[in-house]
Amino acid sequence: MTHTASLKIDDKEYPLPVIVGTEGEKAVDTRTLRATAGYVAYDQGYGNTGSCESKITFLNGDDGILRHRGYPIEQLANHSDFVETSYLIIYGELPTAAQRKEFGLRLRQNAVVETQMQKILEGFPTSASPMAMLSAMVAALPAYHPQLANNNFEKDLKVFDQATAVAISKIRTMVAMIYRYQRGLPFMFPKQELPFCDNFLHMMFSEPYKDYVSVPEVTKALNLFLLLHADHEQNCSTSTVRMVASSSSNLFTSISAGISALAGPLHGGANAAVMHMLQSIHDEGDDGSRFIAAAKSGSKSNRLMGFGHAVYRNFDPRAKIIGQACGTLLSKLGIDDPLLNIAQHLEQAALKDDYFISRKLYPNVDFYSGIIMRAIGIPVNMFTTMFAIGRVPGYIANWHEVASNPKGRIYRPRQIYVGPVLRPYVPVDQRG
Ligand code: CMC
Repeated sequence: MTHTASLKIDDKEYPLPVIVGTEGEKAVDTRTLRATAGYVAYDQGYGNTGSCESKITFLNGDDGILRHRGYPIEQLANHSDFVETSYLIIYGELPTAAQRKEFGLRLRQNAVVETQMQKILEGFPTSASPMAMLSAMVAALPAYHPQLANNNFEKDLKVFDQATAVAISKIRTMVAMIYRYQRGLPFMFPKQELPFCDNFLHMMFSEPYKDYVSVPEVTKALNLFLLLHADHEQNCSTSTVRMVASSSSNLFTSISAGISALAGPLHGGANAAVMHMLQSIHDEGDDGSRFIAAAKSGSKSNRLMGFGHAVYRNFDPRAKIIGQACGTLLSKLGIDDPLLNIAQHLEQAALKDDYFISRKLYPNVDFYSGIIMRAIGIPVNMFTTMFAIGRVPGYIANWHEVASNPKGRIYRPRQIYVGPVLRPYVPVDQRG
């Protein structure tokens, strides 16, 4: 069925094209409206604006559906791992065995962060935000890899392959370096023979004469955590990456901007905020009712962290998966975390409460992810950097869509100016 749309302003009608996506999502194309009618489309915060066409991720927030390149998140979570899903998200297809091997090898070969880059880290006070350190180090990558900071990847796909491996692998190493720097521990070099997640755990937790011993349940939980964060359509940080990419900025500076956007507590910082919330409920001996009552006040600063989502009006499918994995990991490791009990109690109470029901507020991915990370041994102040490691494949795929689009244009939204109208300059001695 073909759809038509027109907009009537006063007495005049303006026909507008309709775009339909492969999953039936419909959009009215307003691009010509300014030229034909002198109007712009107003949508504060872009809540109902399709900013691009994308082939990477399909998300239906009403039905709680998330698919990468057509594959349901539940199937990927069950059968795939972070590295394979990264390949899928970036290159569009599940890799063959040979492609998977080659991709893994490139990641292993690009894990070491240049010794000179340590100085960037050492220039920060140890108390600095890990996300600020990470964003700065990623922004510096083009200086160390100028040959990878060119955007003409269509001519030489090998350059893109290499830049991709540098971004995924080194960002993981940087996070481990930041962790150790803040604790005054010597940096651990990555080991080529270790798989992606075990290598990270080694760089985090090995001691000079005592190597980290891999625990399969922990590796599995980390893999799942990263996989579930690998991409999430046009969220705040991914849109930031696309926006920066649209000015022809290179992959690394675009990702660095995305990491800065991710740092906010309403986005990637929510996982840490959830833990602070659960911890204070625990410390106060409260059952969470006080937090629920405060959250219902409508104030932004009192929100129930880990609840609600800008696009899901249903369960976040990632939250279901991670909630289950959280219980499994803790029981396998024999950990009795009181914060898990508090989270479960809070979830049940909120799901019965009319405020949350009427607003369709359900737990999101961050509600249980912090408890998993705590069990792995990741401190709360590093949580958002873990989210960043996971989200890099999504940033890369979205950056590539922008950089390789021959018809792309620089992202440049309009605004409705509501400030003072024209007025003459007043010299300082005549100002009242
Ligand atoms: N606690 C209490 N009230 C809430 C919450 C919450 N967590 N989230 C939304 N509301 C209220 C909001 O005040 C509004 O109320 P009213 O209709 O009376 O004005 C109503 O619910 C609808 O809000 P919304 O339009 O769905 O929310 P939004 O799109 O502006 O914000 C959000 C989405 C994720 C920023 C918000 O739900 C929130 O702040 N949640 C807590 C922070 C959080 O967990 N963030 C992680 C998001 S998932 C990870 C990621 O992808 O970044």
